[in-house]
Amino acid sequence: MLIGVPREPAGERRVAATPATVRQLLGLGYEVVIESGAGDQSSFADTTYTDAGARIGSADEAWGADVVLRVDTPTPDDVGRPKDGAVLVSTLAPGANPDLVDALATRKLTVLAMDAVPRISRAQSLDVLSSMANIAGYRAVIEAAHEFRRFFTGQVTAAGKVPPAKVLVAGAGVAGLAAIGAASSLGAVVRATDPRPEVAEQIKSLGGTYLPVVVDEEAQESTDGYAKATSDGYNEAAAKLYTQQAEDVDIIITTALVQGRAAPRLITAADVAAMKPGSVVVDMAAGMGGNVEGSVAGEKVVTDNGVTIVGYTDLAGRLPTQASQLYGTNLVNLLKLLTPGRDGHLVLDLEDEVQRGITVVRDGEKLWPPPPVRVSAAPVQAPVAAPVQREEKKPLNAGAKVGLVLAGLAAFFLINAFAPAPIPQHFTVLALAVVIGYYVIGKVAHALHTPLMSVTNAISGVIVVGAIIQVGVDDRPVQILGGVAVLLAAINIFGGFAVTRRMLAMFSKGA
Ligand code: NAI
Repeated sequence: MLIGVPREPAGERRVAATPATVRQLLGLGYEVVIESGAGDQSSFADTTYTDAGARIGSADEAWGADVVLRVDTPTPDDVGRPKDGAVLVSTLAPGANPDLVDALATRKLTVLAMDAVPRISRAQSLDVLSSMANIAGYRAVIEAAHEFRRFFTGQVTAAGKVPPAKVLVAGAGVAGLAAIGAASSLGAVVRATDPRPEVAEQIKSLGGTYLPVVVDEEAQESTDGYAKATSDGYNEAAAKLYTQQAEDVDIIITTALVQGRAAPRLITAADVAAMKPGSVVVDMAAGMGGNVEGSVAGEKVVTDNGVTIVGYTDLAGRLPTQASQLYGTNLVNLLKLLTPGRDGHLVLDLEDEVQRGITVVRDGEKLWPPPPVRVSAAPVQAPVAAPVQREEKKPLNAGAKVGLVLAGLAAFFLINAFAPAPIPQHFTVLALAVVIGYYVIGKVAHALHTPLMSVTNAISGVIVVGAIIQVGVDDRPVQILGGVAVLLAAINIFGGFAVTRRMLAMFSKGA
């Protein structure tokens, strides 16, 4: 089948395929035609696509392909452009664009919405909302740093001491966490809040401090991977927190969203008025109704007290090369799922919840909305069952402990008195090793057990040396045992090094 990648409309800098993703699409058995100039805004010239194996064609050729890949939501004019029987893959916001969905269903098309991928672990590699929110969160910090007239990091210079900027991030989902990571790596003091207390650890791991909003109610979690709306009690307590923070921080980045609703209003005009002149607010939800009073979607406004409110809605598109690469990779991952034979033939399986979730129209039949998908990340209410009595481990009482110690000592003295040499000597070493090992390893934190195990594989080196000596002894059973010991200890050593290598690679940033 032929994949077509048309130019995006004016204002959209991203493109649905890059030279790298074109190679992957060809590897799946497809042919690819790119509309001339489609990658210009993302720094991908036509020649880079032809070098990758694609063909450069006209708009009609790209739109007339069997599978059309797009970034931007189709306009009403676009609805008539794909040929009958074609598959159109794009962002659509189908929930917010019912008229567009109806119009697409008047055509004999199959339409897949990339922004409707269910938030489940299996679908993460195709989730464009996450990949774009990640870029947008990073870019929100860059926009804030650009507007802010001071360093983010604190410095002690010959000309004086510079305090670090203080950044508050409201909402610690994908975009919020990316913003926290970017702001702390620029050296700012970062605080973040979110109704879901389980994000506290993630915030901390990215260098931020979690500010809890303390209310007497259940955690704000839903069953579809997204947060649920906050209660009035929560909102009142949160409002106090924002008012306190607004007076103190230099930058506020808001990313709060409850799926399927207008963005919650978090920062009032009074909060903005209380901020210091020169402060910056980035309202990432400006296009969804706004988390900040006074933000304007797509614009930057400066308030009377000199606070800049950024409401850009194209933050991911402001890093077009990066965003196109990740969007294109999400598309490749989708096409891998849809091309089981790797033969360039797209097969849609509506029994698969991911494929069903993104299918808005199939062959002219409207299939939106899909049935809800329950995710494993959210807590599933377990059926109430009779409480199971768990047997608790009871610590040994003092009498039993004394009995055990006496029995051990008796065994030790009996073996030493009656067993032939060199058994007592070996037994003493073994007993001491067990006691020392028990206390040493018992004091090591659980998180360090794997590295500890791989490092202690060095002990197997001692076993190998001992076993090699035994292989030379003139006694067949001892030789066999020695050989087996060499083999097992060697597996342990090399396995240990392999595990250590893999663990270190997980922490390496690459070249
Ligand atoms: P997400 O669903 O991963 O995260 C939203 C977070 O907001 C969740 O952690 C949720 O618990 C939190 N939240 C919900 N209600 C809240 C409240 N009342 N107070 C504080 N936090 C609350 O969403 P994601 O993907 O991180 O997107 C965040 C926002 O960024 C969305 O509004 C999205 O539309 C916007 N966005 C904007 C872009 C731009 O160019 N301006 C680009 C990409 C995303």
